[in-house]
Amino acid sequence: MFLEIKEGTTKILVPQELTKSMFYNPRMELCRDIDIAAVATFVSSLPNRSHVTYADTLAGSGVRGIRVANEVGLQVSINDRSTPAYELIKRNIALNGLEERAVAYNENTNVLLLQTRYDLVDIDPFGSPVPFLDAACKSVKKLLLITATDTAPLCGAHTGGVRNYAARPLNTEYHAEMGTRILLGAITRELCRYDKAILPLLSYASAHFIRLIARVERGAKTADDSMQRLGFIAHCFSCGHRFAFSCSDMLEMRVGNICELCGRKMRIAGPLYISAIKEKAFCEHVHEELGKRELGKKKEAMKIVHNCIHELDIPFYYEHHALCKALKVPPPSILSLLDALHSNGFSASRTHFLDTAVKTDARIDEIKAILKEL
Ligand SMILES: C[S@@+](CC[C@H](N)C(=O)[O-])C[C@H]1O[C@@H](n2cnc3c(N)ncnc32)[C@H](O)[C@@H]1O
Ligand SMILES: [Zn+2]
Repeated sequence: MFLEIKEGTTKILVPQELTKSMFYNPRMELCRDIDIAAVATFVSSLPNRSHVTYADTLAGSGVRGIRVANEVGLQVSINDRSTPAYELIKRNIALNGLEERAVAYNENTNVLLLQTRYDLVDIDPFGSPVPFLDAACKSVKKLLLITATDTAPLCGAHTGGVRNYAARPLNTEYHAEMGTRILLGAITRELCRYDKAILPLLSYASAHFIRLIARVERGAKTADDSMQRLGFIAHCFSCGHRFAFSCSDMLEMRVGNICELCGRKMRIAGPLYISAIKEKAFCEHVHEELGKRELGKKKEAMKIVHNCIHELDIPFYYEHHALCKALKVPPPSILSLLDALHSNGFSASRTHFLDTAVKTDARIDEIKAILKEL
């Protein structure tokens, strides 16, 4: 009924068939490999790592927490409310000889988090993390790691974004980034109530999920400052013009909703996080760490982090083929578009969110003018 597999340098018993009561998803190995390098990077900057506590709060087989105990050496609490999962977590702790470093819990995640404060808190739910955000924000001291797989409502493809996140997504070509930023915005607002703030270290979307890794800082002023990193994106569905603006611009009505390029009405998405969603130096360190470790998904993990390192901190992107289709020109290579943007004095980069997209500070009319010349 169980199969012994290996992730990183850790052995894990997993159910032969995927069940909800004993959950293990092999497709998330990539995410767990990146986590290991990110957690190792994060704790390497802390003075006394032997006392750092990590909570794997929705653990399934326990694979994340057990890997953190085994491959990074932290003290971990591994929790699942499903009793068969809890029994499996205990077996997996024993299988790796981690009884001194790992403790299994059979609790409701919110109860666990409201009772105990942890340095690092991991929320890896089925679907939306919203039911656990309040307790996670109250508990966490240093680092939040959060997954969302409800990408349809977050990205504006279904209703539900407004209801769950108190924010309006728009279904644009950069919906993956919009979902990531709406989630970061919701976490910022939730943390603020506890006089805490996040500084995103590494945020990415891949396949069906979004994963955020963010440093947590404390203090009323820090929390107030973090609200300045929230804002909105105005998008014109007629000509494709888009721009971001802050909440204070919105409150003081400094922004109109008529498109300056085509005169049509723009639509507004948000509130969402409009500041940087990664810290470059941190990502560089994670990339190095990935390179040094024994990991099953090393190549894919390094590619995502590499792309994050080189990505501009602009809160949206342009899909290259959609631009060329609108102009009725054959698409040149994406590298020649990037070169042309650079030689016209603009910043431009690729993005990990979409292979066929570019980020740039050029406006859409400026990008189109450049494309016509290529
Ligand atoms: C997506 S799975 C976790 C996968 C795991 N983190 C991994 O990397 O393989 C979500 C888990 O959360 C558990 N769960 C759902 N709601 C819960 C709650 N309120 N309290 C505790 N556990 C819960 C489920 O039993 C399930 O095992
Ligand atoms: Zn327009």
